Amino acid sequence: MDRDDLAARYRRFADVEAAVASPQYAALARAVAEDPLVLDLLLDLPRIKRQPNLLLAVLRLLGGVPADGAQLHDRVAADGDRIRAEILTRATQTNEPARAASLLPALARVEGPLALVEVGCSAGLLLQLDRYGYRYATAAGEHRVGRQDGLLVDCTVDGELALPADVPQVVHRVGIDRNPLDPADPDTVAWLRALVWPGPQHDARLARLDPALALAAAHPHERVTGDLVEELPGVLAGLPDGATPVVLASMTLVYLDDDARAGFAEATAGVHVLAAEAPGVVVDVRPDPHDRVVVSLDGEPLHLAAPHGGAITPL
Ligand SMILES: C[S@@+](CC[C@H](N)C(=O)[O-])C[C@H]1O[C@@H](n2cnc3c(N)ncnc32)[C@H](O)[C@@H]1O
Repeated sequence: MDRDDLAARYRRFADVEAAVASPQYAALARAVAEDPLVLDLLLDLPRIKRQPNLLLAVLRLLGGVPADGAQLHDRVAADGDRIRAEILTRATQTNEPARAASLLPALARVEGPLALVEVGCSAGLLLQLDRYGYRYATAAGEHRVGRQDGLLVDCTVDGELALPADVPQVVHRVGIDRNPLDPADPDTVAWLRALVWPGPQHDARLARLDPALALAAAHPHERVTGDLVEELPGVLAGLPDGATPVVLASMTLVYLDDDARAGFAEATAGVHVLAAEAPGVVVDVRPDPHDRVVVSLDGEPLHLAAPHGGAITPL
């Protein structure tokens, strides 16, 4: 990857991923694309560490969101070593409880009780989906699911979609991650908060993140550290009888190469797979201009979902 490719990656982030969700990040990413000093710092890093999301979250963690491209440039010029070191320590592990509202209608198709296994679970916030309350806004009116006196997840449904009457019964939950995050650790909390983009959804996202982390800390799931393809067979073999296993993959399989995706498919043969991944990762649907993910169950595409949750469009 040369400097032009990297600049193009930052422009794509500005134009597609952040344009609506975070105009401030879109402007900063556009400035990075024109800034040789910042591009050189990134080109010195391993490829996986050059992502816009990672650079911007590290800047935010270390000194707040830069006001503009000039301030971003000055901070990199003055503090490049510290920024580089922090980028090397951290990974983008955004864990967004609002994604649960996109998963629920698909999960309702599986008969419970469920044993939920999430691959790439980060801090495990999606494994708590039965403990959240949901408020779906549909053309026919509001549809509420689950308890309404705690964390509430809002979701707009653009089209006809069967919505569940209740949350699923989850009797066992396991999270696999090569770097599982502890929801009770203050450093984890600070990093997950830094990963929330400034923009129209910022305050609502933080208002969900904090209680979701508290819930996950109060109800720890079984945590497995390691590569998901290697760990899955052992985890699936160890699940208790009497519950239907469902493997959940949300914004994770996209990080796997073709061989690892084939390994995932082999490891999950005969088991329900609920996925919320970019088009082409699990199911082949047309790439989406709004960067939405496809929610699928057992390879059947069901609906498109906003990447950070909040809106679904049935296919
Ligand atoms: C973007 S986060 C998604 C977190 C959560 N699934 C969600 O949607 O809110 C992706 C997670 O996948 C994990 N991950 C990526 N590749 C992995 C692998 N091969 N094995 C285990 N975990 C992996 C990362 O560590 C990270 O926590």
